[in-house]
Amino acid sequence: MTAPQLLVLFGSQTGTAQDVAERLGREARRRRLGCRVQALDSYAVANLIREPLVVFVCATTGQGDPPDNMKNFWRFIFRKNLPSTSLCQMDFAVLGLGDSSYARFNFVAKKLHRRLLQLGASALLPICLGDDQHELGPDAIIDPWLGDLWEKVLELYPVPIDLPVIPHGVPLPSKFTLQFLLEAPNPSSKESCLAISDSLGPPSESQPFLAPMVTNQRVTGPSHFQDVRLIEFDITDSGISFAAGDVVLIQPSNSAAHTQQFCHVLGLDPSQCFVLQPREPDVPCPPGLPQPCSVWQLVSQYLDIASVPRRSFFELLACLSPHELEREKLLELSSAQGQEDLCEYCSRPRRTILEVLCDFPHTAGAIPPDYLLDLIPQIRPRAFSIASSLLVHPKKLQILVAVVQYRTRLKEPRRGLCSSWLASLDPEKGPVQVPLWVRPGGLAFPETPDTPVIMVGPGTGVAPFRAAVQERVAQGQTGNFLFFGCRWRDQDFYWGDEWQELEKRGCLTLVTAFSREQGRKVYVQHRLRELGPLVWELLDRRGAYFYLAGNAKYMPTDVTEALMSIFQEEGGLSHPNAATYLARLQRTLRFQTETWA
Ligand code: 2AM
Repeated sequence: MTAPQLLVLFGSQTGTAQDVAERLGREARRRRLGCRVQALDSYAVANLIREPLVVFVCATTGQGDPPDNMKNFWRFIFRKNLPSTSLCQMDFAVLGLGDSSYARFNFVAKKLHRRLLQLGASALLPICLGDDQHELGPDAIIDPWLGDLWEKVLELYPVPIDLPVIPHGVPLPSKFTLQFLLEAPNPSSKESCLAISDSLGPPSESQPFLAPMVTNQRVTGPSHFQDVRLIEFDITDSGISFAAGDVVLIQPSNSAAHTQQFCHVLGLDPSQCFVLQPREPDVPCPPGLPQPCSVWQLVSQYLDIASVPRRSFFELLACLSPHELEREKLLELSSAQGQEDLCEYCSRPRRTILEVLCDFPHTAGAIPPDYLLDLIPQIRPRAFSIASSLLVHPKKLQILVAVVQYRTRLKEPRRGLCSSWLASLDPEKGPVQVPLWVRPGGLAFPETPDTPVIMVGPGTGVAPFRAAVQERVAQGQTGNFLFFGCRWRDQDFYWGDEWQELEKRGCLTLVTAFSREQGRKVYVQHRLRELGPLVWELLDRRGAYFYLAGNAKYMPTDVTEALMSIFQEEGGLSHPNAATYLARLQRTLRFQTETWA
């Protein structure tokens, strides 16, 4: 039987699932199988009925939700009216990526696997449950599963004898070629020029709005360990509109220093311009990359050189290395046995692509520019909860950004790309523009005027509730209950004056937990328990909605536990009944969460 085109569809939030999907694509090409790799939402889902062979690679985000780039697919595939034979021509396999420290481990992959079976598709092999918590990383589970997958696929569709498998160690052709231009088309190649077209419709990933930054103000006190910024953008004439609970996506850039260093190590001339051409006709050019493009633009706006490299990076780099010693080391780091070393070298200390390239200078200096886009992932946009309402700040959009910085055993502190970049921009020194667009967030607020809302948002988790309170107060909605937690009243009590003013006007009930102002820690969940009778009365008698936003690590579980104990103590429910009660609140959207790592 001749091999059909293998289709690899991925749903990826942070890029890991995409990386695995692309690895599958490369392995298929080594085996001479035709293969397309696409994000689930960029695939025309109605064509799925004709696909003979599909591998789904899906991440599960914190609370068991699908990644953003498969949300439309998710809604489609769970439509009630799809016949149970819809996918009876399809052989499939599902590879899940999750984290077993979260309750809904690989929830999306498991649910998808069941649904595909329901729709008549045949599973080639059992689901793969990749786990970030595995001591050797998710590959420890994925590698043997992929071995089984290729065995099955090649049993069904044997490779023709005259076309041998391309061995590892020989680079596959690059996806694109960079055709350098002799003359630069524009003189100022260092300027930002993300492609902006005049087409109608609100700004999006392929057409962001370049929003002028109006203010960038530190809102934590000088003795606070964390630098948190309140940033305001002007969105006049952008076509952008949003409601409380929505999210803004920001496309960050690398710093000028990192961009310069990268060009230096690779021996690239940043002012040179090129046109990008896909080697195969159906490969789309990366969205947002201007054509023609300068090397500076490519490096600063597109290549994620500040991210921690994945194993595939070392695999390809080893293939491209002309230097024996470096190549040996790279091969070791990309081998199955080298995974503990790779973890020690990169993942644990959070070493970046740029730093690795500096450690392998002979290899870096020999990388053919055509391979840059195969080697280095694109900079992903970052999502922030919108913290202002258009009803109170028309034509403006505000966010609250904690500047991510921490230390590992490496000398240089680790810095979050987007938050550090935003913090470095100073609108007082000259005009600053930031590429952004908005999308609906995970929180939606009731429109009925007398439905109470309980909002629990410690730290920067309060951001979406600032928008909600502004919007609700402007619309005359009552019953606004805000539980806010921070360390000290005078250091990180974001919008403290505003909340107190609204309290005075009778528009808000504010409950605070200043964790470090007394001997023992006091958190929002302690306040919830103290006010258990009120919380139960609001939820059970008055149909309140409950919202939770903030850091994903322990807080969501702790707050949910506090709620469970309120249901038991105040509502007299047994533990299983309290769990059912909570599940019902979730199902009816009366318990909503927005959490981030
Ligand atoms: P801490 O830093 O003093 O431990 C915003 O970060 C606030 O959330 C801080 O007061 C922080 O307290 C608190 N916080 C830390 N862990 C938490 C948890 N598991 N649940 C609720 N709040 C928490």
